[in-house]
Amino acid sequence: MAELLNGQKRTVMCGEITTDYIGKKITIMGWVHRRRDLGGLIFLQLRDRSGISQVVFDTDVCSRELLEKASTIKLEYVISVVGKVRRRVGNNINPNMKTGEIEVVAEELKILSEADTTPFSVGDDGANEALRLKYRYLDIRREKLQQNLIARNKICQITRNYLSDNGFVEIETPMLGKSTPEGARDYLVPSRVHSGTFYALPQSPQLYKQLLMIGGMDRYYQIARCFRDEDLRANRQPEFTQIDLEMSFVDQEEEVMQLTEGLLCKIFKEVRNVDLPEHFVRMPWVECMNRYGSDKPDLRFGMEIQNLDETVKNSKFVVFQNALNAGGTVRAIVLKNGADKLSRKELDKLVEFVKTYGVGGLAWYGLGADGVKCSFAKAVDEQELSAIKSALSMEQGDIALLVANGNWKTTVVALGALRCHLAAKFGLCKSGDFACLWVVDFPLFEYSEEEKRFVAMHHPFTHPKNEDLQYMLTDPARVRAKAYDVVINGDEMGGGSMRIYNRDVQKTMFEALGFTDEQIADRFGFFVDAFKYGTPPHGGLALGLDRLVMVLTDTSNIKDVIAFPKMQNASCMMTEAPARVDDKQLRDLRIVCEEDNG
Ligand code: AMO
Repeated sequence: MAELLNGQKRTVMCGEITTDYIGKKITIMGWVHRRRDLGGLIFLQLRDRSGISQVVFDTDVCSRELLEKASTIKLEYVISVVGKVRRRVGNNINPNMKTGEIEVVAEELKILSEADTTPFSVGDDGANEALRLKYRYLDIRREKLQQNLIARNKICQITRNYLSDNGFVEIETPMLGKSTPEGARDYLVPSRVHSGTFYALPQSPQLYKQLLMIGGMDRYYQIARCFRDEDLRANRQPEFTQIDLEMSFVDQEEEVMQLTEGLLCKIFKEVRNVDLPEHFVRMPWVECMNRYGSDKPDLRFGMEIQNLDETVKNSKFVVFQNALNAGGTVRAIVLKNGADKLSRKELDKLVEFVKTYGVGGLAWYGLGADGVKCSFAKAVDEQELSAIKSALSMEQGDIALLVANGNWKTTVVALGALRCHLAAKFGLCKSGDFACLWVVDFPLFEYSEEEKRFVAMHHPFTHPKNEDLQYMLTDPARVRAKAYDVVINGDEMGGGSMRIYNRDVQKTMFEALGFTDEQIADRFGFFVDAFKYGTPPHGGLALGLDRLVMVLTDTSNIKDVIAFPKMQNASCMMTEAPARVDDKQLRDLRIVCEEDNG
């Protein structure tokens, strides 16, 4: 039978009982983590958020009734214990436990809540993910998850203090709004009052934060929930959180970037005691793509992509020739000392790997212990091989992996992916290393094959580089944006831009995107209107809070940093959302669902 707390107060948390408490009487409360019954002696481990302490029921000290009561206790019961702290002796000392030098000799016990056998053991990391998500509240009892959520809270606290100290004001923006031009699919909410119409949950507070600048709020921030109906990956959730900010009277990217560096340095110092460089590397987008084949390169390791166009321009190898003749390129990465690490079978797997990135194949040239192994040796002469070796600065033991393709971007992206794949395979990244950079000078537009027109790479309110304004209509592909992404260890942590605040520039932008006046009015009407009434130069950025917590807690699964995350298919195992609703609710909304016969 569960007992009442009756006002009893906890005097210390389980994980915080130090040797200073020896000889003192304490009251602790928590969940039974482990139990060991040796007849006249019962050991329990009691767990709360702060950690675990050992409790002993010893017939030498406690009554028969107390021992009997203690023997009924099972795992995950919630109990309170009043007892005296004593020093553990001999083998009893546990150097692996924070409270391993003490134990609590129980004098009183209350069973506050009994527990059925749990579907998986809280003390065990092995349970499968689906089961852990179904019983998420049990999963949250695990130390790792609790630590992640506590780290998340700490990051939010530091952020609030830092931004507040820098003159930012936290302002909430609506959840029920209008679809914003952010690119992903919206989550829609039907309106009951205005039948047939829908709110959209925000993909980000982008429009609102710019309106707050027009509204004169000067500096805004928000730890904002965002919703995007897109394909999920290990670092994506349909609802996620941004540290979102915007500032007025700035027109240089540097101003937002430096403020963000200050915030990230503070967070890393206080959460991990790591000193990030005060000034991160700035790398133009084109350079990133050329050197790393990615707009979010992982700089913890080298293996940069190298250009072989000049070296192989007279090659007899038809694959190289075809690529160059098609206006493409031949590029390579070199895995140091990799020639004998990659078997023929593994090389074949790498060929299949790069093919998924749209290239025709992968060529290799290795300087192994048993001699040269080269997939295109028959097609080229000694001289050419030697030229490749020297162009790539190869040494004995190295292997070069080459891609030739008619499209520059396809080539570098495939090699960039291979570079990361090999780094993961051969453990080239040390945990505890953090490599940060800013990717800058993004193209303002990208060409959409689907729509057969240029579309905005970030969004249509991103300011072009001043010196590229002249090419907006004549050569859009050449125009760079005042946009920046911050990347840590190959993951995009955040991004932002300077915004257009000048009507003529906005007009040219819409023109370049091919929008008619009607389309502009329809999509961005209220927003474009607002710009007519006095707009300060402004810019901002959003950091992905979840991703930041992931990096800081060394986890590669975004679900590990969110209390109640969704599965890969955007459903919730625990609540079973999304779910069907009552016919009455649908009738109120005047919604008729098509039967899914699929
Ligand atoms: P962007 O779309 O680049 O910019 O988003 C900013 C950051 O949010 C994180 N992020 C996500 N995290 C988890 N799950 C997702 N589905 C997800 N999508 C994005 C990333 C990303 O870098 N309004 C602009 C910002 C601005 O211009 O000020 C925006 O939302 O870490």
